[in-house]
Amino acid sequence: MTYNEIRKVFLDYFEKHGHKIVPSASLIPNDPTLLFTVAGMVQWKGVFQGTETPIAPRVANVQKCIRAGGKHNDLEDVGFDNRHHTFFEMMGNWSFGDYFKEEAIAMSWELLTKVIGLDPNKIVVTTHISDDEATAIWKKIAGKEAIRLDKDNWWAAGETGPCGPCTEMHYDFGPDVPGGLPGMPDEDGGRYVEVWNDVFMQYDRDASGNLSPLPKHNIDTGAGLERWAAVLQNKLDNYDTDLFVNLKRAVSDLTGVKETDENKPSFKIITDHLRSVGFAIADGVIPSNADRGYVIRRILRRAMRHGQILGHRGALLSELYPALIKEMGDAYPELKHQEKRVVEIIRNEENSFADMLQNGMKLLESELPKINNSMLPGDIAFKLFDTYGFPLDLTQMILRDKNISVDVDGFEKCMKEQKERSRADTRGTKLLWESQTDLPDTIDSEKYDTKTSSSAKVLAILRGEEFVKSANTGDEVEIALDHTPFYGTQGGQVGDMGVFKRNNDIVMNVAETNRVGNVVIHKGTLVAPISVNEEIMPEINQNVRQQTARAHTATHLLQAALRKVLNDDVEQRGSKVAPDSVRFDFSFGRALTAEEKQAVEDLVNKWINEDMPVSHEEMDIESAKKRGAMALFGEKYGDRVRVITAGDVSCELCGGTHIYHTGEIIKARINKEKSISSGIRRITMSVGALAE
Ligand code: ALA
Repeated sequence: MTYNEIRKVFLDYFEKHGHKIVPSASLIPNDPTLLFTVAGMVQWKGVFQGTETPIAPRVANVQKCIRAGGKHNDLEDVGFDNRHHTFFEMMGNWSFGDYFKEEAIAMSWELLTKVIGLDPNKIVVTTHISDDEATAIWKKIAGKEAIRLDKDNWWAAGETGPCGPCTEMHYDFGPDVPGGLPGMPDEDGGRYVEVWNDVFMQYDRDASGNLSPLPKHNIDTGAGLERWAAVLQNKLDNYDTDLFVNLKRAVSDLTGVKETDENKPSFKIITDHLRSVGFAIADGVIPSNADRGYVIRRILRRAMRHGQILGHRGALLSELYPALIKEMGDAYPELKHQEKRVVEIIRNEENSFADMLQNGMKLLESELPKINNSMLPGDIAFKLFDTYGFPLDLTQMILRDKNISVDVDGFEKCMKEQKERSRADTRGTKLLWESQTDLPDTIDSEKYDTKTSSSAKVLAILRGEEFVKSANTGDEVEIALDHTPFYGTQGGQVGDMGVFKRNNDIVMNVAETNRVGNVVIHKGTLVAPISVNEEIMPEINQNVRQQTARAHTATHLLQAALRKVLNDDVEQRGSKVAPDSVRFDFSFGRALTAEEKQAVEDLVNKWINEDMPVSHEEMDIESAKKRGAMALFGEKYGDRVRVITAGDVSCELCGGTHIYHTGEIIKARINKEKSISSGIRRITMSVGALAE
């Protein structure tokens, strides 16, 4: 039975037994306690707790899940055994106060033994030590003596929330396979594989660990599709089932390398990570330095490392994504709908990490001979993290084969010191730059139109509290150039990120760009030495720029929409425009109603869909006033100003960077509206991929 057939058999069975079949929920849960959707029940938490009404008393689906962070984290194990995945599909059936233990167990048993035809003698069941009822039901229905366990038979999605005792069904691959019964020390050997877990959701756990009964008795089950495929296709390794064989073939085709016993972990890791990265980004996760964005970035970087082990350089998952669509696009059409965006996001990530991976590996290899006591010093792991973008777990994974560990405490200590330094820096460096009175203003007019300026000259380098003539690889510096295409934080818009290059090699990763007076300051970490008077090529990160530009144009549309929906007295009082996110403060005397908020959001989205042209023009202030351009309350403007006009709905004086068509914003979504002081309200809004 193939993956596609198993999904259908499962859903057909439960549909026949009165269940409503629902599509998979997003991998991004509507639940602040979880990074990802880790189980089918996540979307039903509120239903179990009695705060939401169920759409039907009986429901079933196949849910995409990621377990790679937080309480449920399988990332470290992927590649090194036969069963673990960061992304997997969980088939599940639920009863919301309808059937309970007996009917749930009876249906699981019937489906396993009668419908998909597993040998009843090869199924071992477990129940919770406290659960005499479930134990007796197994005896009655299947003549089975359940093994009674404690922790393994209690299930909870998170530290708090719905939970309860459970019963698990395990398939026995037979005595030729090593491994002990569930609950035995060698249970992970592989002989017995858990194929289904029926949870009896009866309790709600609070933050101090107290259990209180839920309003109703519910059933929550989870059956791993990958494991069913392994059992039904008689494969000891999930990665040898049809779907993975096809994905691995795509890896071979791309890299030109055949799978062997030696390189098998790399094939597993790449195919697993392709699924988690592809599905997560299709659901709206953007690789970043925080939260779930960072988990996805780490996974993507691990995959690239394994591409490198196979001798492959450059784009990997972005090239493999079409193979994922081919295997899973029918079951999950979002993969196809989002193809262009997902490939672009992955490709950008891969491009920015490719060089760092090569250079970081060189550093790591040069350190290996110096290692004693099989432990990489924390400061080296930190340098790999900080300069070359190696997440700690990537370094650990690389060293794992060599039986070398990482001094994690030392790493954490460097991290803490750096945070303290950077806090001190932001207080201190402004004054230091202001003391450089002979430094000319930076020519930064290119910020409005070019990606790479012609080569630019390094005028000053600040390292720590000292201006230096040159600085070295790994140094954290702030640099002023004679001219730059980088936008320095100004007018509420955060500055650009990017790189400085020399003959196509990266010299510096620029993490932020600020302004002190009219001098643009590029702040970041050196990947190669740099000196004053040297010529380098500044290059902004186009992806981040585009995300910020669309957020900025969206801010103008938001202001126009607020004036239309509320009244013309609404005036901007402040803003922060960051990649794909907007914070907008404005004068208005009361909270917006839900209808008003919706109307504002709808109007902004209508203008986005109309794909109106956005013009950027420079003119003198008088012409701009005649044009009716809105100016910012209390702001001083020079004689020459920039006017940003979106269709016939918005015309504002603005020095920020913008897109050229409102359609580039893709989508806008208002997240919050609140008061920040008397008569001033604040709206936070997401745009682009984040809003989607
Ligand atoms: N929610 C249960 C699990 O994930 C079914 O195992």
